[in-house]
Amino acid sequence: MEQNRIQQKQIPMTDEMKEKKSSSLLTIEVSGLALQAKKDVAPKIEVKDLNFFYGAKQALFDISLSLPERQVTALIGPSGCGKSTFLRTLDRMDKFVPGTRLEGEAWMNGEDIYDPAVDPIELRKRIRMVFQRPNPFPVSIFENVAYGLHLQKSSRRSIHDRVEECLRGAALWDEVKDRLNASAVGLSGGQQQRLCIARAIASRPDVILMDEPASALDPIATLRVEELITQLSQDYTIVLVTHNMQQAARVSHYTGFFLQGKLIELATTAELFEHPRNQETEDYVGGRFG
Ligand SMILES: Nc1ncnc2c1ncn2[C@@H]1O[C@H](COP(=O)(O)OP(=O)(O)O)[C@@H](O)[C@H]1O
Ligand SMILES: [Mg+2]
Repeated sequence: MEQNRIQQKQIPMTDEMKEKKSSSLLTIEVSGLALQAKKDVAPKIEVKDLNFFYGAKQALFDISLSLPERQVTALIGPSGCGKSTFLRTLDRMDKFVPGTRLEGEAWMNGEDIYDPAVDPIELRKRIRMVFQRPNPFPVSIFENVAYGLHLQKSSRRSIHDRVEECLRGAALWDEVKDRLNASAVGLSGGQQQRLCIARAIASRPDVILMDEPASALDPIATLRVEELITQLSQDYTIVLVTHNMQQAARVSHYTGFFLQGKLIELATTAELFEHPRNQETEDYVGGRFG
């Protein structure tokens, strides 16, 4: 595997690839990280023949894909193509939003997560969602993270340790350690988003779903969240919806392109940007439509 990774990194760009790259309207810098996508990782989640409906309106069509374990999979595509809807099928939106309906299968660790016997509330602890707008609870920084831990009948000491661990894990500890009892809503937007990520990892999830997690943030806060995503991918399987192709190229190992409710192509990020197999993907990553 290590050897495979090194070989992939050393693949030189062909003239054809260079030409394609320079002819793109957008210059996409595919990071070294993206080139390190592992070919042989186990899928954490496998989705098969997924269809999703808002009332009579079908929003997703026959989606089948694998999300590799401890990798970042970015989902890109124009507004309204179904990226958020897809994320929320993994979060069982159909169980919480009246009038929605889901067909198909999704397997996590070999377990059918759409099985009626699976409790969607329990599932949401294992598959956590982080939204575009940071949504901390209007309580202290500490309580935002400790919230779910109290329910687990842990001791005060172990709750404190776990809160610290999660805040460190979300690259926020050093900024807040002296004011853990201050209100979370007093934090900057970027800090609030990292707090939401700390809260998400507190339940030790398998998967973190992020829906445009940096698009409401300034460039510096965005960079910090991107660095955090890279770091978190060592421990978690991450699905990142973004309309920012550079962001997908910077932080993801795999990228999927959605168009009008269909998954057009899913490949390693390097492959998808450098030599897409599908013409529509090529037009999109080349900036020919948005
Ligand atoms: N609550 C809803 N009720 C009805 N249609 C919806 C709802 N949310 C999204 N849609 C429709 O589903 C399609 C996919 O939307 P969405 O998943 O939000 O796309 P994206 O996240 O890629 O912008 C769009 O046509 C959108 O109008
Ligand atoms: Mg969306």
